[in-house]
Amino acid sequence: MERISTGISELDAKLSGGYPKGRAILLTGTPGAGKTIFGLHFIWKSLVDGKKCLHIATEESPEDILVQAEILGLDLRPYLDSGQLRIERVFEIRTESAEMSAQLGFGFETTDVDLLDQVKLIPDDTDVVVIDNMGVFALNMSVKEFRDLIDTITRILASIGCTTLLVMDEAANNLTHGIAEYSAYGSIKLMMKDNPYTGVRERYMDVPKMRSTEISLELSVFNITSEGIRIHKSTANSG
Ligand SMILES: Nc1ncnc2c1ncn2[C@@H]1O[C@H](COP(=O)(O)OP(=O)(O)O)[C@@H](O)[C@H]1O
Ligand SMILES: [Mg+2]
Repeated sequence: MERISTGISELDAKLSGGYPKGRAILLTGTPGAGKTIFGLHFIWKSLVDGKKCLHIATEESPEDILVQAEILGLDLRPYLDSGQLRIERVFEIRTESAEMSAQLGFGFETTDVDLLDQVKLIPDDTDVVVIDNMGVFALNMSVKEFRDLIDTITRILASIGCTTLLVMDEAANNLTHGIAEYSAYGSIKLMMKDNPYTGVRERYMDVPKMRSTEISLELSVFNITSEGIRIHKSTANSG
């Protein structure tokens, strides 16, 4: 199976070369766990490798994404300017519509951005898609509707050969009973917890599922540094 670099060399090594090409991988985790930064590494490396990328941003403005990436040494601006990268402004559409509705006296009622419509409009020469964060779409849907949405968008993206990272916050993942983990081709979980030996808080990455890939079930410890994500070791070697 062809692989696409994750943008994090230690993760590529763990996944036999990278994310399975043309498939959708789910990335879940608590707030601050590093999900958005994982996505930025993937986008940046794909751009450097000449791929056409789309970032669907539901939680941050494009400017915030560019700034965060830049701080980590991942300069996305030239690619945005050249059109090799597109950032979909879902965050602004979502919050502006909520604000408008509140002003009109309807309360904070959002005319939800239709993710399915957005996905249908993705040009078929797109190689890489990051949707950060899918969780906002889960909030006013039944679990069944959400599963259908995920299955439909992963089918459409697979049909045009996109390798997709579906970022989803832990709260929405719990609310939907982790259903997205069944639909996705692979699942990566980020978390923070106290090291039982040292009492120090550490960041962990777990890869419970990656179809067609031999994976180690050990947790990996990682850091977020000024150069982005550094995965150091599996827990089996630590302590
Ligand atoms: N330049 C940096 N150096 C060290 N840590 C950073 C830096 N930039 C961001 N971080 C860490 O990354 C965390 C945010 O990661 P992010 O990917 O946005 O989380 P998530 O999307 O899972 O909520 C911050 O809480 C901070 O701890
Ligand atoms: Mg985030």
